[in-house]
Amino acid sequence: MHLYKTIAALQTYLRQQSPSEVLALVPTMGSLHGGHLRLIELARQQNDRVVVSIFVNPLQFGPNEDLATYPRNLEGDWELCQQAGVDVVFAPTPEVMGIGAGSRAQTLVIPPESMTSVLCGQTRTGHFQGVATIVTKLFNVVRPHRAYFGQKDAQQLAIIRQLVKDLNLGVEIIGVPTVREASGLAMSSRNQYLSGQEREQASVLYRGLQGAEQAFKNGDRTREGLIGTFEAIAQTMPNVQIEYADLVDPQTLEPLQAIADEGLLSVAARVGSTRLIDNIILRDR
Ligand code: PAJ
Repeated sequence: MHLYKTIAALQTYLRQQSPSEVLALVPTMGSLHGGHLRLIELARQQNDRVVVSIFVNPLQFGPNEDLATYPRNLEGDWELCQQAGVDVVFAPTPEVMGIGAGSRAQTLVIPPESMTSVLCGQTRTGHFQGVATIVTKLFNVVRPHRAYFGQKDAQQLAIIRQLVKDLNLGVEIIGVPTVREASGLAMSSRNQYLSGQEREQASVLYRGLQGAEQAFKNGDRTREGLIGTFEAIAQTMPNVQIEYADLVDPQTLEPLQAIADEGLLSVAARVGSTRLIDNIILRDR
């Protein structure tokens, strides 16, 4: 496995590979866990060459967010990537990506307002613009045929699919189902912030989503019914503060009053001081 920290070194390597090979990119911010590893595992199975990028992207953190304290563990990540059969870890600095302290990105990629003003976009102003900008830059640097993203970040996935379509980026986007702890808690780098007790409490989010799924299977298609079922369960845990629970179209993220074909029930909550997100797709079959 190779570790490259500059664009030139990465591209020299990539140019030496056969052009007939299928190249996959798994973009991450590191501190890898079972969710990331599932993306990497699928990429490994489905492609000839796998690049994992590890970059804590300053552009997607708000001024009051956890950029400085976001967990970083390049050595552990390297070990896990090696075990997973990754070909290349690309771990640039902000300077290498052209967004260091002295060189703020000049050209930004701005996704549609209708997709960034809802769900997490209500409180994380500029976040998805930061994601779209860095993902575009990573695609241009690596030029992958396929890129892997988790359903855990459903809004991010929908925005990236739209980005690729609107800017003709020519990358096939593979969405991967959420990987969970045995308790149901969605795996996340930010779970490291939770105490043992908070971790247990946080699993109520998935129980709430499952409750809504059961209600859906029993025939409830309505916004009020499905969100209400989630909230009734999640609110049984007083330390879990719901930030939002919303029902939207999984592709456009437009709010749904009722589900015709499929719906995305997406939620965010604070458990102590840690912000967690989760979601479930509701569809027949
Ligand atoms: P990060 O939070 O490190 O996540 C990297 C990828 O792993 C994302 O596509 C995310 O959806 C996926 N992922 C995280 N937890 C998961 C889980 N429990 N199950 C399945 N997939 C999971 O998302 C980002 O980084 C950044 O925004 C990035 C796309 C790298 C741009 O900076």
